[in-house]
Order: sequence, then C-alpha cells, then structure tokens
Amino acid sequence: MAIYGNSTGTLTQASLLHPENLREIRQGLIGWPRRISSRYFYDDRGSELFREITELDEYYLTGCEFEILNSNARRIADHVLGRTEAGKAAGPTDARTISILEAGPGDGSKAQIIAREFASLSDSVSYGAIDISPEALSIALLKISEDPGLPTYSVVGDTLHSLRDLTNQSTGRRLFLFLGSNIGNYTYDGAVQLLTVIRRALEPGDFILIGFDLEKPAEVLIPAYSDSRGVTREFNLNLLRRMNRELGANFDISAFEHEAHYNAEAGAMQSFLVSQCQQRVTIEAMNLDLLFEQEEAIHTENSHKFTLHGIERMAAESGFAPVEHLSDLRKYFATSLWQVPVG
Ligand code: AVJ
Repeated sequence: MAIYGNSTGTLTQASLLHPENLREIRQGLIGWPRRISSRYFYDDRGSELFREITELDEYYLTGCEFEILNSNARRIADHVLGRTEAGKAAGPTDARTISILEAGPGDGSKAQIIAREFASLSDSVSYGAIDISPEALSIALLKISEDPGLPTYSVVGDTLHSLRDLTNQSTGRRLFLFLGSNIGNYTYDGAVQLLTVIRRALEPGDFILIGFDLEKPAEVLIPAYSDSRGVTREFNLNLLRRMNRELGANFDISAFEHEAHYNAEAGAMQSFLVSQCQQRVTIEAMNLDLLFEQEEAIHTENSHKFTLHGIERMAAESGFAPVEHLSDLRKYFATSLWQVPVG
C-alpha cells in the first residue's frame, strides 16, 4: 500500500491528508458544481508561485499596498501610539509598548515597513506572526529581527484556531496586520466570523490594519487573474499537481485549463480549472473515481472585491470601529485601520 505523508509521519493541519481536509476536498470534488478551497494552493511550490504573481505588473494589488504602507506608515503609527484623536481613546492597553501581530506575513516585507516606523518612535516594540507554513514564518521573522531588529515570536497554525496562542504572547497595545486582501478569499459570513474571532482575541483600544482590493473595471481585474506569462495558470494547476503528489491522484495536468472570470453578482474574481475533454481521474488516498465531462469546471478560488461602504459594514458587523481608509493614487486598493471599541 502506498503511504502518503511527510517525512516525519505527522499530519499537520496544512497536509491534504489531514482527515478534516480529506473530507472537505472529497465533498467539494464530488459535489456540483465541483470545487476545492483556495486554502490548498499554498504548499511550498504554490507559495513560490504566489510570490511570483506579486511581482507581475498585471497583479496590481501588491504594488498598491506597498504604495499605501510606504506613504502612510507614520500616520498609522500615530493612530496606534495614541497621538491622534482616534488613538487617544483610552483603553486598558498601554500605548507605550507596541505588539505588531500578523496573520499570513508572506516574506515579511510589508510588516517591515510598519515595524521600522514603530521602531523609530518607540523602544518597546515586538513582532509576532501566525502562518500555516513554518518556512514562511522563519523568512518573515528573520527579516524583522534583522531590520529594524525587533524581538519576534511565531505560531504555526491557522488564524481561526491558533490565534490565541499568538495574542497570549503579546503585551501592550496591539496592531494586528491582515494584509494583501487575503480576506477576499472568504465568504462575507466567513470573513465576519474570522474578524470577530480576531477582535475577541484583542483588547479594547487595539487596532487591526486590513487590506481590501477595491471594485474596479473588469479590464483591470481579469488580466490580474490570468496574466500573460501564465504564472497564475501554473499557480492554479499546481493544486492538481499537489493532489497527484500528496493524494496519489492521477490528474492529467495538460487536460485542464485555467480560467478566471469576474462574477458581478458575487463581487468576486473567480478561478476555475476546466476539463478539456471527457476524462476519468482516480484519487487513491480517497478511494475515489471522478468522471469529468468536457468543459466541466472545478471552482478553485473567490477573490472578492470591495467598496468602502462594504468595508465599513464588515467592520461594524465584526464589532470594530473604522478609524481611517488609506488608498493608493489610483484608488485600486484600500488598507483600512480599525479599532476595538473602548467601553
Ligand atoms: C493571496 C488571496 C490575496 O486572491 O488576489 C492571486 C491569491 N489568486 N492570484 C488573491 C491569488 C490568484 C490572492 N490572495
């Protein structure tokens, strides 16, 4: 019998073979329409492909958020340090000690912009991050511990379940970073649920800085999710490669195509893997046979696009008070600062 697992023999939450993941993937693939969660994109290869996506001109999101953070780091720090009206709202947290926390730090270069600003204004700043990938965490933590040289800590896990392991290690006033429009992968209800969990793990007076990709014409959105060099195509197809590797599946990669569509009703870019012919696929680890019709699609991702109105509604429903929306010159992206209400 084939054994599918990692070299240590332990099944982490990140493994496709984790029983909860196996069940979810199976349900999605046998259901109609077929779907598989975008959470599974990020194995080592998927993370590397996403990093390549962020360097594409067509994928404007990353450049926009760097522009926003570089132009507004001081303003964000002023709010968090209690030097503005919003920040003054006295909470039990001590604004002289700052804990920068982050979910999904990537390579840590966005957090670094924020961390440098705080380090220049206060001598009691630390950085803690949570991610499903230990690899990603060590890269981000190394970056922040080298420049601006902050003390760091991390938790391997998913934000919904392991968040308190991170916040329990933090002190003083917290600034929680949730950048890159990662929130866009969640359903509206899922996003409110996650943000509520984050708000409850924080204290009154703490802040969250959260990135939202804004609604814009489809001529801009579509190339961002189907780039001319085919990196996004590879990123999407890597899901099938990953199932072949980790689940003993036999997807014929050349018999599926990447498609990205804008769904106006959902307010989301949606990615699909479309079967190019009638074909049978076997997934050994699930003891499963699938028959795909020609043109039958697997829905792999929703990337929701937001309006400022929608962002404020989401803040209110998750129990946060919006402080300020920061945007780039083209108004393509919004990085929003919210506070946990005091009293
Ligand atoms: C990492 C979720 C923000 O939805 O824009 C990039 C992932 N998918 N290209 C996004 C992604 C296709 C990305 N997020």
